[in-house]
Amino acid sequence: MNLSEMSKEEIAPLLEIEKQKFTAFKSKGLKLNMSRGIHSVEQLEISMPIMDIFHSSAEMKSEDGTDCRNYGNLTGIAEAKRLFGELLSVCEDEIIIGGNSSLALMYDSVSRAMTHGIMGSTPWRLLPEVKFLCPVPGYDRHFGICETFGIKMINIPMSETGPDMDMVEKLVSSDETIKGIWCVPLYSNPDGIVYSDETVKRFANLSPAASDFRIFWDNAYCVHHLTEKENKILNLLEEAKKAGKEDMVFEFASTSKITFPGAGVSVFAASKANISYVESILKYQIISYDKLNQLRHVRYFKNLDGLKEQMVKHREIIAPKFNLVVNTLSEQLDGICRFVKPEGGYFVSVFVPDGCASKVVSLCKEGGVTLTGAGATYPYGKDPHDSNIRIAPTFPPLAELSEALELFCIAVKIASYEKAL
Ligand SMILES: Cc1ncc(COP(=O)(O)O)c(C=O)c1O
Repeated sequence: MNLSEMSKEEIAPLLEIEKQKFTAFKSKGLKLNMSRGIHSVEQLEISMPIMDIFHSSAEMKSEDGTDCRNYGNLTGIAEAKRLFGELLSVCEDEIIIGGNSSLALMYDSVSRAMTHGIMGSTPWRLLPEVKFLCPVPGYDRHFGICETFGIKMINIPMSETGPDMDMVEKLVSSDETIKGIWCVPLYSNPDGIVYSDETVKRFANLSPAASDFRIFWDNAYCVHHLTEKENKILNLLEEAKKAGKEDMVFEFASTSKITFPGAGVSVFAASKANISYVESILKYQIISYDKLNQLRHVRYFKNLDGLKEQMVKHREIIAPKFNLVVNTLSEQLDGICRFVKPEGGYFVSVFVPDGCASKVVSLCKEGGVTLTGAGATYPYGKDPHDSNIRIAPTFPPLAELSEALELFCIAVKIASYEKAL
């Protein structure tokens, strides 16, 4: 039954039962962290053969003869550009292979715009105000980048097809202080939303008031499917080219959730004009990224099919965990919570009754399970409804996840019942 249809007399005894369960649960002394989307040990094992690619007598030259042990090739080795270019369906001259983190590439892109502007525009640090649009709920680290640079963030509601495009179009075209928008277009973090073709087309056809407005297209989960059916989104750069607006796109991805988080390869894709602009400044920042890691990744995957085979292995390990989350929430919290079963990505985004998220997170902490902080999925850590909680189920083994979910459901019920009373 829906909680809102229940009387106080019906709810009160249920609250007592959950409180007793909570006390019993606490005595178990559980200690679990479900706060971040990271690989389980089993997933890390999948990539161990990459360690065997190199040994002291291995060939260290890339296909064009570059010795990858040395400086050189600022924008990456050719075979890495080809592989990751194919992954994102962009040309080899539209891509830069970065270091171990796409987040660092995003941070650098904003930082560069602050100090140098973009392709001749006024450096953002000289402007009285700079704003970014932030589809919510979203990725806390995107918001952190804005916060650290003093960029004002504006919440944009998400729908099942992506951000509210009426609002995006209106704001972007009328306010030249709006310089960017954060998007995770395939399996958004945390909702797992897949941007529809119409949404991508509307992004490609935006008419921003600011000439240096950029869409920060974080394609972090581009091959991270949880089902055999593989969702696909339209290629934003290609769509933008059709409209002659390709300079508006900054795309990012990495192998963090493919090989080793924090020890993979990142990529930046954009128009040729953007790539040359970035290169012209990047050359003062770094002589070259880690080409050995680029070479190692290409030799390990061999080609895009190899990379996709690796993702099937991940799926086999993590899909049962997502199924467990979704089944448990459906059975236990029907009528109390709202969530969508994700078909990819790394999270399940749960909306508990308004005003209850902080309480749920603190009860879980008290019971031994650390969740992502309430509010973390919103700019400035402020969820206006105190409702969204991001569950990251990949790390714990199934048995522990099951226990953590049991606690989560108890916590949601306690918080919701108390609120209703
Ligand atoms: C949407 C999104 N972008 C970027 C990252 C971080 O990627 P990287 O390890 O390449 O910095 C994450 C990690 O969880 C993420 O969820």
